Amino acid sequence: MTKAVTSYGDRGFSQFLRRAFNRHLGYSEEDFDKPIIGICNTFSEVNRCHSHLGPLIEAIKRGVVMAGGVPLEFPTISLGEINTSPTTMLYRNLAAMDTEEMIRAQPIDGVVLLGGCDKVTPAQLMGAASADIPAIMFTGGPMANGEYEGRTLGACSDCRYFWQEYRGGSVSEAELVKINEALAPTAGHCMVMGSASTMAVCSEALGLMLPGAAAIPATHNKRMAAAQETGKCIVEAVKLKLTPSKILTRNSFENAIRLLMAVGGSSNAVIHLIAIAGRLGIELPLGLFDELSRTTPFLANLRPAGKYQMEDLYRAGGAPAVLKELSPLLHLGEMTITGETLGEWLKDVTISETYRDIVRPYDNPLHPEGGIAVLHGNLAPRGAVIKTKAASKSLLKHRGKAVVFTSVEDLETRINDPLLEVSPEDILVLQNAGPIGAPGMPEVGMLPIPEKLLKQGVRDMVRISDARMSGTAFGTVVLHVTPEAAVGGVIALVRTGDEIELDVEQRRLQLLVPVEELARRQNEWSPPVIQGRGYTRLYREHVLQADEGCDFDFLLPEETDK
Ligand code: FES
Repeated sequence: MTKAVTSYGDRGFSQFLRRAFNRHLGYSEEDFDKPIIGICNTFSEVNRCHSHLGPLIEAIKRGVVMAGGVPLEFPTISLGEINTSPTTMLYRNLAAMDTEEMIRAQPIDGVVLLGGCDKVTPAQLMGAASADIPAIMFTGGPMANGEYEGRTLGACSDCRYFWQEYRGGSVSEAELVKINEALAPTAGHCMVMGSASTMAVCSEALGLMLPGAAAIPATHNKRMAAAQETGKCIVEAVKLKLTPSKILTRNSFENAIRLLMAVGGSSNAVIHLIAIAGRLGIELPLGLFDELSRTTPFLANLRPAGKYQMEDLYRAGGAPAVLKELSPLLHLGEMTITGETLGEWLKDVTISETYRDIVRPYDNPLHPEGGIAVLHGNLAPRGAVIKTKAASKSLLKHRGKAVVFTSVEDLETRINDPLLEVSPEDILVLQNAGPIGAPGMPEVGMLPIPEKLLKQGVRDMVRISDARMSGTAFGTVVLHVTPEAAVGGVIALVRTGDEIELDVEQRRLQLLVPVEELARRQNEWSPPVIQGRGYTRLYREHVLQADEGCDFDFLLPEETDK
């Protein structure tokens, strides 16, 4: 317990006091000289994705002790997608600050970050990157597959799918109740390649999680074994002084982006990876994501863009199987938390032919390009993203008239109004749902299809917003339009009836309104008054735009490597 001591103006007294007060756990004098490993515990019953962390913490502790360390768990904020209002993204930076400050303030030599649900993993990585003591990520793991009438169910792609079918009239209320019971059958996070799974596999590609750990189902005995190994690994990482800044390099972020594109991962990962890199002064421009997407084959056949789920990926070899196939494109010399390079831990990975429909060979991909495209145009001068492989092919080049909703509340009020003038060719536009506008950039980007169109059989339309969408969602949905409406982005100037052109192949998003008319509208526009108090006020005053990772401006380092 030699790390910076409590300020009593007497270092010796502080150490004396610290030892005295920590003996109650049974530790002896020699134990205080061993590596002290903090276990960042995000257990919560409100965050159902973290409600099973207790036994995993015990397994991590066992591993720490086996390797000669002393484990001390401590709590930090826990963010669950389903029960947090208005959106967990509003609190990601708060969780990152909590993580960073607790790592820095406490007498620990290394830390295990125990995450899982969508925003917790990136928040912990952001905090650990800034605190920069040896850190390893471990997640609670994905749920096992759900099942209903012989069909595999996945939370929460099927939550959305069946709700839409219910609204469209093809699923009855009685069926919906049965489906609801089967959607989330075990502990763990969402089991499709949503944001939680995406950030977990990206943690492996970044080198901050044990190889193969991301895909192990939450309740599988192998997850307990991986937890124990994680405990051992962090003690060794402390001895090797493997800090995040030695592992999280520009090259390791490129590896993570390649993997994101190859698994058809969540669009939210674009924001999170930018934010994590930003903590180390590494800039990841949106153009880099597009460039790497165009040159990365789509290999993992996973929902919502494909057919299988995390349990299936686990059987096929997990993230290492995909990374092995991607090897020709990766920076294999990057260091990982195991003390080996990425190339060294991929050396012995083999992929069984049995699972070749889940992880495709490099030269026989599902698609030649990756899963996310970055768009530009007068409607998104600083960029927007679309998950191309979860969209309708027929809508990727589309021109239509805008039907505009000025806020999330306006959307909720009018979308199912039978009098709403809307046709399947129209483009639904949502304004003021960005980082500042909403605030917190909620996952409302997959705007509901108006009920009257659903009943006519319409299941997809082009939708555009400055919001995000869940990684488990699907459809022809243009997200993260930047600058957002609340700071005067052109999306604020769209009016119902305006023509919009989307051309994903050309990476273009254009509002077809004359420049003079846009200038006139811009003159009439005035920024929203920021009201409120406390954390939400701090958030709205300091959050950066989506292309900058939505971190707080005051959390970036002073030097940024462009
Ligand atoms: Fe936690 Fe989906 S609700 S990962």
